[in-house]
Amino acid sequence: MNIAIVGAGKVGSVLGKVLSVNGEKIVAVVSRSNRSAAKTGKYVRCRNISTSLAAIPPRTNLVMITTPHRAVEEVAHKLAAVAHLDFKKLSVCHASGIQNADVLEPLAAKGATVFSFHPLQTFPRDFEPKDILPTVRGIYYGVDGNAAAMRKAKQLAAKLKGKTIYIKPEMRTFYHAACVVASNHVTTLLWILEQMFAALKTSEKKFYPVFEPIIMAALQNAARTSPAQSLSGPIARGGVETVSHHFEALQRFASNLVPYYGSMSAETTRLAEMKGSIDHEQARMMYNLIFSNMRI
Ligand SMILES: NC(=O)c1ccc[n+]([C@@H]2O[C@H](COP(=O)([O-])OP(=O)(O)OC[C@H]3O[C@@H](n4cnc5c(N)ncnc54)[C@H](OP(=O)(O)O)[C@@H]3O)[C@@H](O)[C@H]2O)c1
Repeated sequence: MNIAIVGAGKVGSVLGKVLSVNGEKIVAVVSRSNRSAAKTGKYVRCRNISTSLAAIPPRTNLVMITTPHRAVEEVAHKLAAVAHLDFKKLSVCHASGIQNADVLEPLAAKGATVFSFHPLQTFPRDFEPKDILPTVRGIYYGVDGNAAAMRKAKQLAAKLKGKTIYIKPEMRTFYHAACVVASNHVTTLLWILEQMFAALKTSEKKFYPVFEPIIMAALQNAARTSPAQSLSGPIARGGVETVSHHFEALQRFASNLVPYYGSMSAETTRLAEMKGSIDHEQARMMYNLIFSNMRI
């Protein structure tokens, strides 16, 4: 494939690099600034770098739009106006998690095959592409588009050693919220742990090595069985008194974390009742405790 990348950021650089290493040709890197285009061009082994979409050569088969999601619509309109492109032979995708394929309608109207192609992975802004690269192997890409577009999306995912997952257009924002839970909320959870560990004032400097075994076991247990089966701890045993002591300690040492602890404890109670390790009455007592503490 001859592939053009529009938007020389983290996603464009990493996916472009994987495609280039796997034998695909990156024929253009276009970005808002020449500096980003040049940096990514070097990384993905492409000398044709530009700030203009007109630099995309006529022989291009696939354009990957990896700009921020707000710019996708504008890029689609501008790309549809590039006269030398053979739209009937062209596929165009974007990497936005929150937008469907229909944002590429101006290109579809010209005969291009269009699809969304959202890498279900985190590409942190402060990380170098080389440090993100190993994390994209085997990932899912959230996609939508017509049947022909889905065949192209599958081919592209295969070239990236990944898989596609079809997301119904009406579920797109909900899907994106789930991705935020999987990535950002897990990161925030670790930050909460970091704060709680700091308050303990132990002789250990870093929180992560101390908690890593329990974090990894919780992840692996849930992956091997299910969240319900692997739940342990005071809420799963109906330990209202223990949880009450937790709230007292949180009020004393990290009162800013009470709302977090309360809402997660409420969800944990729901899980414990669903799993059947506590009955309805025990769940009611736990909710009473949680909500009375959250009102403080
Ligand atoms: N970051 C993540 O974790 C992640 C995960 C999955 C999907 N995504 C999606 O992937 C897309 C790219 O994300 P990213 O994290 O790679 O963003 P990013 O690092 O901010 O990169 C976006 C790049 O697009 C360029 N750009 C902005 N407007 C442009 C325009 N009108 N024309 C051409 N280039 C333009 C920027 O230009 P200059 O640098 O040249 O100024 C920047 O290099 C977004 O849709 C995002 O939602 C992100």
